[in-house]
Parts: sequence; structure tokens; C-alpha cells
Amino acid sequence: MVKMLICYYSRTQHTQHMAEAVAEGAREVPGVEVDVREVKEVHPKTLIDYQAIIMGSPTYYGSMAAQCKRLLDDSVAVHGQLAGKVGGAFTSSGNIGGGNETTVLDILKAMLIHGMVIVGSSQGDHYGPVAIGDVDQRSRDECRRAGRQLAELTVKLHG
Ligand SMILES: Cc1cc2nc3c(=O)[nH]c(=O)nc-3n(C[C@H](O)[C@H](O)[C@H](O)COP(=O)(O)O)c2cc1C
Repeated sequence: MVKMLICYYSRTQHTQHMAEAVAEGAREVPGVEVDVREVKEVHPKTLIDYQAIIMGSPTYYGSMAAQCKRLLDDSVAVHGQLAGKVGGAFTSSGNIGGGNETTVLDILKAMLIHGMVIVGSSQGDHYGPVAIGDVDQRSRDECRRAGRQLAELTVKLHG
């Protein structure tokens, strides 16, 4: 059994709904246990218990919310111990062109610095799922697809 953490910050539940859809997709893959947690509930040292870490944040000024950055900064406590784990990111922004892809890439950059394994998508949302406001059918499908893809990769690498 591999373990996947989906952690998020969400003030008005849009990113939370994305997290739930990513979890639905991941749970379709046999052999994967999925925990969905708000970032404030995640102690950085527990990150080492997971084989996959997926982070969701609202887009704030074209980047992640401070609450997500806080967890990433605090993850220095386990620097070197996240290498080889699967990473992924998703975001909800207010507007198309409101900085959602830069937000996803900012999270992925931190994961790359940890030595984590990042995968893109040739279809749909290339860097990670994005929603404009709350999830609609398109973004829900993207979240589920990404959840499945990341779970399948985690089983391949760590199962
Ligand atoms: C402090 C703050 C900064 C924001 N900055 C952006 C932004 O740069 N671009 C954008 O498209 N939306 C921006 N928004 C809108 C949020 O990204 C959007 O409402 C999102 O859906 C909120 O997600 P949540 O419901 O998970 O909190 C901002 C909202 C807040 C409160």
C-alpha cells in the first residue's frame, strides 16, 4: 500500500473541492491510501510518511497562499528525505490568466528542490489542475484525471 497526502489551503472552499476531486481520482487506483488534510493540520515531519504529496492552494497574487508556503518552508526540517516521492499541485484562481499556472509552478519548484518526481500532462491542464472559482465539470475531470495519474505513478515507483 502506498500513501498519498493531498494537502490544501482554502478560504472559500474552491480549492478544497478540487482536493476532494483529486482524492476521488486517486482512490480509483488500487493499492493507494489517500489522506486529505488542510495544510494547518500537517506537521512537516509527517511528510516523510507519504510516497506522494499533492498540494493545492488558491492563487494569491500569482503565487501560492502564505499558509502553503509556510508548510513548504517548514519542510526544510525533512530536507533530503522527500527525494524520490511523487509531487503534484493544483490551484483555484479568480480569473483566467490570473496567475494560476505560475502558482502551480511555484509549488512544483519547491517540490523539485526536494528532489521529488514531477509529471506533466500532454492533455488538459499541463502543469496541474486549475479551476476558475469553484470546480466545474471541466476542472473536476482534470482533478480526477490528475489524481489517477499521480496515484498510478506512485504505485509504479513505490508499490
Ligand atoms: C489575497 C487574495 C489574492 C488573490 N489573488 C488572485 C490573483 O492573483 N489572481 C486571481 O486570478 N485570483 C486571485 N484571488 C482570487 C482567488 O484565487 C479565488 O477566489 C480562489 O477561487 C479562492 O480559492 P479558495 O475558495 O480555495 O479560497 C485572490 C484572492 C485573495 C483573497
